[in-house]
Amino acid sequence: MLETDLRRLDGELSRLLGDDAGFLETLRGSNDVRILDLACGACDEAEVLTRRIARLRGDELPETAAGIRFTGMDIRAREIGWARERFRGEGAVSYEFLEGDARRLDGHSQLPEQFDLVFMRHQNLWNGRRVWEEIYHKALEKLSPGGRLVITSYFDREHEQALAAIQAQGGKLLVTHRNPFSRELATPGKSVDRHLAVLQKT
Ligand SMILES: C[S@@+](CC[C@H](N)C(=O)[O-])C[C@H]1O[C@@H](n2cnc3c(N)ncnc32)[C@H](O)[C@@H]1O
Repeated sequence: MLETDLRRLDGELSRLLGDDAGFLETLRGSNDVRILDLACGACDEAEVLTRRIARLRGDELPETAAGIRFTGMDIRAREIGWARERFRGEGAVSYEFLEGDARRLDGHSQLPEQFDLVFMRHQNLWNGRRVWEEIYHKALEKLSPGGRLVITSYFDREHEQALAAIQAQGGKLLVTHRNPFSRELATPGKSVDRHLAVLQKT
């Protein structure tokens, strides 16, 4: 199921970002593409994201011409440990997984100033509005001028509320999309990557 979910996520990302001329220009103009995956849990999507970014640039992994630096962060040490075991850099691609609070990114001195893609899979506004508003703020702060913030959500209403909160902080919504291939979960109205949205910084 995990593999299928990731394949479907990749398909939706390919469509949404592949149509985004501004983002493609950002990627193709960079020799050092940076991806930040916030609250990533075990960061299942790490390789899907690096591969997709390479393809959008017109490269393939591991032969990609551009450096691709992936940083994943979550507050749960165990999941970050799993991610470190699973994903190892190869060629021009590097992975770094940090245990930490996404509201306190400044505490990580090794973190680049800006990222071309900030990703949050299954953002969790309903688990604590104040916390997640702060995480959205940090996500926008870390975004490069031509970069994109991509979120996915489990629920319709939570997605709408997250978009409103991100836009209230200066995020500009480019596209939001109901994933037709989203896998239904046991909780009514909840499904995997049910919605995806792409935003940029105003
Ligand atoms: C709904 S889960 C999504 C996990 C993963 N992105 C996925 O799609 O499977 C929300 C994640 O947010 C993380 N989280 C909650 N508060 C956080 C914080 N302040 N800083 C970093 N991660 C946090 C949790 O540990 C959890 O992994």
